[in-house]
Amino acid sequence: MIASNYPFLTNELYDVVRLFGAEVEVEHALSYENGVFSNSFSVNGERFSSEDVHVCKDELSFKRYAKRFSKLALYRHLAKLYGEMPWGALTGIRPTKLAYAERKEGRAFEPLFRQMGVREDNIALIAEILSHQRAIYEGNKGGLDLFIGIPFCPTKCAYCSFITADIRYTERYLDDYLTVLEKELAGAKHLLKDVKSVYIGGGTPLVLDEKRLERLLKAVKDCSLSGEYTVEAGRPDVFTRGKLDLLKDYGVNRICINAQSFLDETLVKIGRRHTAKDVFDAFELAKGYPFSVNLDLIAGLEGEDEGDFAHSLKSAIACNPDNVTVHTLCLKKGAKLKEETDRLDGSVIDSMIALSRAYLSEAGYAPYYLYRQKMMAGNRENVGWTKPGKACVYNVDVMEEITDNLAVGANAISKKLCGGGRIERYASPKDIPTYLAKIDEIIAEKDKLFEET
Ligand SMILES: C[S@@+](CC[C@H](N)C(=O)[O-])C[C@H]1O[C@@H](n2cnc3c(N)ncnc32)[C@H](O)[C@@H]1O
Ligand code: SF4
Repeated sequence: MIASNYPFLTNELYDVVRLFGAEVEVEHALSYENGVFSNSFSVNGERFSSEDVHVCKDELSFKRYAKRFSKLALYRHLAKLYGEMPWGALTGIRPTKLAYAERKEGRAFEPLFRQMGVREDNIALIAEILSHQRAIYEGNKGGLDLFIGIPFCPTKCAYCSFITADIRYTERYLDDYLTVLEKELAGAKHLLKDVKSVYIGGGTPLVLDEKRLERLLKAVKDCSLSGEYTVEAGRPDVFTRGKLDLLKDYGVNRICINAQSFLDETLVKIGRRHTAKDVFDAFELAKGYPFSVNLDLIAGLEGEDEGDFAHSLKSAIACNPDNVTVHTLCLKKGAKLKEETDRLDGSVIDSMIALSRAYLSEAGYAPYYLYRQKMMAGNRENVGWTKPGKACVYNVDVMEEITDNLAVGANAISKKLCGGGRIERYASPKDIPTYLAKIDEIIAEKDKLFEET
């Protein structure tokens, strides 16, 4: 149980407790007088307090510093009991946004990160990421990215908590889904001005057969877009030459061929129907096409140790992708694997992440975007790595929230930047039948979001 005299702090304190995975009772009281924040805590009956000085100019700044100092005080206490965390008291999804916010106020971000207990290697990583995404970040002149969600997969992977389903159970919706997507895209055409990038993801878009895939690609083509165009083609078990030909013919210039692991034993355990050889074969096939290729790996998969992960990293590098995204296993509700992963040892994950940084840097990749999620094994992060000049615009835009995002499909979240850091969102229904039934309402809501704000 966590209680605070300022209710807006309860969730923030809960996020700190969750970092340690500990069962603790927290009572918290904050007072603010003459520029002094006084935080008093009782944690499992043990009392402590701290004082920090900051003169707040308005309500917004009060909230910001109240969060910062109360989280920090609780973090320091719990870190003494359970050990330090790689990102210290930072619990947000986007540490890079916090770094930019400091820079915008004329300060270096490093002192704040140090104050929050972030480890030096992670501070250095953030600095590297900011420098490698600079061209995209600083070249940003607004505009919009288009996301198209295809929540269908060949099988559901055991670790995955995305809203997507095994196509055996959802195939009956597929044609209607495409019809509604066509309608949604046509309905959004007048909003699709100055589109910087298109991303078809999900899900596994290449689970569509060639006829259906062409319908989808044609609907996008009818919107007359240009620029970066990614299809998260996804699993190598759905790759065919015919589908890749279609992607090329319709102007796709970036695809993902995701391995997750290069150990066949792991791939069986996590319910993916392909082998490591299938990944190599998919890369061989993709060589004949003008695509930039991304490959996803996950650190911390069931039963894997550092040696296994090193094998996956080396195999990934041998495939020579333009981008490698190293995810850390995330323990969200909805994934079958949750039971096993709860017991993962943070130090094993730490070694895996250290290996990924060493091997990928050595192979000529640079980190260019990063995000964190709640419930990640070892409280780590996901990092996108790129070869020089191959950074994905869409990923930077989405992570840094520097462009509008018009998202179509079930469970697609559109975002409109409204100035002053405020973002308006619209999320379409998660389940496919509701999405299909409500399409007219969804189109109208999106019109309202992008035209009125
Ligand atoms: C939306 S999924 C789509 C990728 C594609 N369907 C595939 O599986 O190859 C994007 C990526 O998120 C990562 N991912 C999904 N669930 C995850 C989890 N529970 N923990 C860590 N990474 C996860 C995987 O690396 C996956 O490739
Ligand atoms: S990881 Fe990819 S293929 Fe597996 S269930 Fe999730 S979205 Fe589908």
